[in-house]
Amino acid sequence: MQEQAIAWRHAGDDIGVVPTMGALHAGHDSLVTRARSENQRVIVTIFVNPAQFGPNEDFERYPRPFDQDRARLEALGVDAIFHPPVDQIYPPAFKTRVDPGPLADVLEGKSRPGHFAGVLTVVLKLFNLTQPKRAYFGQKDFQQVVLVRQLVRDFGLPVRIVAVPTVRHPDGLAMSSRNVYLDPGQRQLAPTLQQALTEAARAFTAGETDPLRLEGLARGRLAAAQGLAVDYVALVDGATLSRPERAIPGSVLAVAVKLGSIRLIDNVVLGAERL
Ligand code: PAF
Repeated sequence: MQEQAIAWRHAGDDIGVVPTMGALHAGHDSLVTRARSENQRVIVTIFVNPAQFGPNEDFERYPRPFDQDRARLEALGVDAIFHPPVDQIYPPAFKTRVDPGPLADVLEGKSRPGHFAGVLTVVLKLFNLTQPKRAYFGQKDFQQVVLVRQLVRDFGLPVRIVAVPTVRHPDGLAMSSRNVYLDPGQRQLAPTLQQALTEAARAFTAGETDPLRLEGLARGRLAAAQGLAVDYVALVDGATLSRPERAIPGSVLAVAVKLGSIRLIDNVVLGAERL
């Protein structure tokens, strides 16, 4: 992959990369479409990265419908699909890991220790193998976007990180490869996340700027739904991930819940809500 990517760059082509773990859905399509519109070459990586899964997480059962994914990407006109085996990314002698620092210990990182070290390590390697000018990530995983931008800044990588708005089902549930795990009852409850975010975002638009009150509104809505356990509801600064004194446009309200053993996340950028 790397030789092909270097040849494209030498020929003057910009490469856009869309890193994924496969099980592609309309959210991924929007990343690819955006990449297609901004670059001469588009590479999609499909790699279920063992390093970002905790010991009790779903690495083994993570969906891997590769033939379906390939057909979908061919229809979208990508130039290359990079689908390496685990030992190409992590050969036996592989030793180095990226330490993402303190922003990886909050929100998702608090419940998933080591997750972002695994993400940044593989993203750094995928960037080296695919030589992108631009890389496309979904806004749903907003903490991931913040940490990938930090990686790019800290290591001086010549890659622009493009965050693409979340794509939703008609009932508001954010698209996610893990939605296939939801049973019919859980699937009915899942749009509560978006409803909770919308309620708080509307209150912000109406003038409420107290972070605790905004969090409380979302938490109240989630707590009213039986069968859904709240992990966190956090109003944070979109860059530092700390709670601001007052919510401002650009602050992010992020939520994570568990429906049985299935963890769902979602967020809204205040003042820019397009839920
Ligand atoms: O968002 C994902 O699918 C993964 O975290 C990524 C960026 C492909 C790294 O494995």
